[in-house]
Amino acid sequence: MKKLLMPYNGTSLQLKNHVVMAPMTRSRAIGNIPNALMTQYYGQRKGAGLIITEGTAPAPEALGYARMPGIFSDEQVKGWKLVTAAVHQNNTKIFVQLMHTGRIGHVANLPDDARLIGVSEIPAIGQMHTDSLGSQDFSMPDALTTEGVQEVIGYFVVAANNAVAAGFDGVELHGANGYLIEQFLNPNVNDRTDQYGGSIENRVRFAVEVAQKVSEAIGKDKVGIRISPNSTLGDLAPYDADATLKTYTHLASELNRLGIAYIHVSINPGVPAETLNAIRREFKGTLIHSSGFTPENAEIELQTGAADLVAFGRNFLSNPDFVERIIAGAPFNPVDFTTLYTPGEKGYTDYPRMAGTNEKAILL
Ligand SMILES: Cc1cc2nc3c(=O)[nH]c(=O)nc-3n(C[C@H](O)[C@H](O)[C@H](O)COP(=O)(O)O)c2cc1C
Repeated sequence: MKKLLMPYNGTSLQLKNHVVMAPMTRSRAIGNIPNALMTQYYGQRKGAGLIITEGTAPAPEALGYARMPGIFSDEQVKGWKLVTAAVHQNNTKIFVQLMHTGRIGHVANLPDDARLIGVSEIPAIGQMHTDSLGSQDFSMPDALTTEGVQEVIGYFVVAANNAVAAGFDGVELHGANGYLIEQFLNPNVNDRTDQYGGSIENRVRFAVEVAQKVSEAIGKDKVGIRISPNSTLGDLAPYDADATLKTYTHLASELNRLGIAYIHVSINPGVPAETLNAIRREFKGTLIHSSGFTPENAEIELQTGAADLVAFGRNFLSNPDFVERIIAGAPFNPVDFTTLYTPGEKGYTDYPRMAGTNEKAILL
């Protein structure tokens, strides 16, 4: 039997298989509150050993995208309880991805009294969708003061406590794809002169302090982080190769010191093997690899020990019964790219299962 389909027994994480559903923003949370449709979507995908939810805001100012869910209000916690209960029925674990969008956002997507914040006053170049004004340039962020940084860390802690109250098995800190945590890591968009900018130690400090404070609040076994070395998403420019390697080596070593459950690396084509090897070497907890995997090359990744678990994004999006299809060797539905972020069930909960199977029969 494929390793991918066998149970995983890590120190912090025990899963029914090695298949992880990657975090994917789907913009179905009307009013930023998780709902019955989202419960159905995640419930359909409970063949996974571990589901990582879409990026979820730890505070109102973190709601950079339209219809992105939050986890800072009682109503949001109530909504998420439905989701966690649905996926736990099949012994699937679920972590909520805490995503602070930082400078990637527009004020029209934020609640009235929230402001767009960033690491520095350096706006992202490009445009994004807003429901009220259509496509808009990214807003100019207000740079956080040093006290402001502490406040944001506090939001992550409250959100993590809320996550446990909502029934999540843990939280994944979104340190990838150009959002707030990665904005601190990248010297091209972090020109701070306090203890959160400048040297490698300083740029890594925010990620480590968030991980530490969240671990103290809910337990280090319930904390993971996603990173994407060499990513250019969110208008991030690449920086010096040696500095990049050293940044991620130091980060992995600090996270190892904290003993968090996992590091999840979204692998960009530009990331050197040296960086991936350094993360593997420095961090002794569970390592998840993702982005661009098929069941076949994921199996090789697990067999060679390059990673402990593999996460799948688009294939899981378009195949609610993705794991059953792997078992059956069945073909996958293609992704409909026109409905990735549109409200409603089309392109969300209506992707077909394999002919002749029904969801109630999932015994995975
Ligand atoms: C519709 C969509 C939304 C995404 N949203 C997120 C997100 O909220 N957080 C995140 O870390 N990555 C996000 N990603 C990236 C995926 O987690 C994953 O890295 C990407 O799809 C590549 O993996 P794949 O080749 O298995 O699809 C998103 C991807 C897609 C297609």
